[in-house]
Amino acid sequence: MAAQLLDGRILSAQVEQSIKTRVEALAQKGCVPGLTVILVGDDPASQTYVSNKEKACARLGIRSRTLRMPKDISQETLEKAILEANEDPAVHGILVQLPLPKHLDESRALALILPQKDVDGFHDVNMGRLARGEECVVACTPKGALYMLKSAGIPLEGKEAVVVGRSNIVGKPMALLLLQENATVTICHSRTRDLAAQTRRADILVAAIGKPRFITADMVKPGAVVVDVGINRVDGKLCGDVDFDAVSQVASFITPVPGGVGKMTIAMLMDNTVSAAERAARQA
Ligand code: GUN
Repeated sequence: MAAQLLDGRILSAQVEQSIKTRVEALAQKGCVPGLTVILVGDDPASQTYVSNKEKACARLGIRSRTLRMPKDISQETLEKAILEANEDPAVHGILVQLPLPKHLDESRALALILPQKDVDGFHDVNMGRLARGEECVVACTPKGALYMLKSAGIPLEGKEAVVVGRSNIVGKPMALLLLQENATVTICHSRTRDLAAQTRRADILVAAIGKPRFITADMVKPGAVVVDVGINRVDGKLCGDVDFDAVSQVASFITPVPGGVGKMTIAMLMDNTVSAAERAARQA
């Protein structure tokens, strides 16, 4: 393999270590960080993600509570749960696991979360502030991906960054973060003409499309840094949006799946939750 591995397992363990110290400092002030997760329905992928979040909270001394709700709940019931968590001073972070069942209004639900408790960074206020380049809660996956790039000392200023995928959860915030780092950013998507011509221009290539092994070696410039945000299951095995074996022969740095950005997403959620608790403790 020519590329150097950007290892999310090692890095997230380091981040978790420093979060533990912060949780201990909060405990000295009588504050235990609290995260409420709302999980609607029985989507297997969502259940796995939520279970990983619960385990991380347990490791770090964060009090977590998961509200598991049946898939046919009403908008009103969902909103009531959010409002109750908003009111609860022991809850510092609120996360509504996405996607929600189709009959529920996701935007309305997310907009109800208090921006300071929105540890996903999906609230209009946080997204808007990110777009303005102002301080805000940043979405966990793009925040984790950027953290990996910075920790490896990869220069971003003036670089051509190409983000494949325009989701609100990853693609758009990722592009905004790279822009803030003074990269020249292109966002590509399913309607982009000659996608490979775009990806081949990239010094930094972020794949967030949700299609297994979609980015092939011929789509990658030699020496590019490749960040794989995809989590796909093929024949029971996890794989990313990047054809790892082939692309790692071409890239200079690459994130694996599993053990890459996914680990950082969880670490950043813990970071956002503890930051929310620290803010609350300062104001108490
Ligand atoms: N579904 C997939 N990724 C995420 C995430 O980062 N946060 C939430 N709430 N739902 C998701």
